Amino acid sequence: MSETSSRFILERYAEFLPVTDKTPMVTLGECGTPLVRSRVLGPELGLEALYFKLEYTNPTGSFKDRGMVMAVAKAIEAGAEALLCASTGNTSASAAAYAARHGVPSYVIVPAGRIAMGKLAQAVVHGAEIVAIEGSFDDALNIARQLGERPGIALVNSVNPYRIQGQKTGAFEIVDDLGEAPDLLCIPVGNAGNITAYWRGFNEYRQAERSTRLPKMWGFQAAGAAPLVLGHPVANPETIATAIRIGNPASWDGAVNARDESQGMIDSVTDDEILEAYRRIASDEGLFCEPASAASLAGLIKQVAAGQRVEGLTAVCILTGNGLKDPDTALKIEAVQHQAPADLAAVERELGWN
Ligand code: F0G
Repeated sequence: MSETSSRFILERYAEFLPVTDKTPMVTLGECGTPLVRSRVLGPELGLEALYFKLEYTNPTGSFKDRGMVMAVAKAIEAGAEALLCASTGNTSASAAAYAARHGVPSYVIVPAGRIAMGKLAQAVVHGAEIVAIEGSFDDALNIARQLGERPGIALVNSVNPYRIQGQKTGAFEIVDDLGEAPDLLCIPVGNAGNITAYWRGFNEYRQAERSTRLPKMWGFQAAGAAPLVLGHPVANPETIATAIRIGNPASWDGAVNARDESQGMIDSVTDDEILEAYRRIASDEGLFCEPASAASLAGLIKQVAAGQRVEGLTAVCILTGNGLKDPDTALKIEAVQHQAPADLAAVERELGWN
């Protein structure tokens, strides 16, 4: 396999990562995700080019695998006996899979009733021990941080610096594919690890002279869970995009820094705007992401509608998680459905094709 097509970040980007000769080189086939050019939405918004980075094609269906492969390898290298995380779903799915791959147990703490079905299924099938708490993600992370103090337990939330190290490789790949950094990077923001990681990645690549410029970072939170926009934590965050239903992001400073240094923005989008973008990504572009991922496009649409000039610019929206994780939301969209007996003429009649 050629170096650039390798789906193993610890190998492909070893020179930019804290990989040592003691780091276990275990992979599930993460990274190398497609950058797909928009057919409809880019031209409609007046962009020179709009791309979607399909992070949902990572092995557990989200961008978390980039950070997890690194964090888990370093945890095992340091002698950890078990992995622990708090999660709105995707982190737990990823942690559970890499724990299984390394042959160690995993423990996950999730907000009861607030995690999409597919993500819970993943944690279950990979054998994680799951504690559903009557509280928010922020409560879960608080508890996980304290449990993570125990000997032998590795906390693999993005407060673990190795998670950010792994996730920054998403930025490397965009530059590798485009030959330069884009003008705009649009990204959903929850716990704020990913926007922090992408900003670091773009900076490290420019320092290494793989690019000559930096993008503006445009981060988007759900309106009911927008602490970074409001400038203070939100006690009871609420949004249909459960992945980013977070009131007190752990990487607060990293997100603010990415926003300010890049002369970008962090704005909010309503659930209706998220759902409209989610539907259009699927129906106009053929891409099925989860609702939180669609916040990236929803924010871009909102900014253009508000008068931001984007003519001549190249933008990348990060599609962070797979739509199949949350079929309940997809099935709320109105579809044309018919019932018919198993009979050609009857089906033709239903379709109005006779
Ligand atoms: N998109 C998806 C699909 C996510 O699962 C998350 C975070 C984000 C965006 C936001 O990324 O937290 O780095 O700002 N999910 C975490 C989890 C919190 O537990 O799976 P962030």
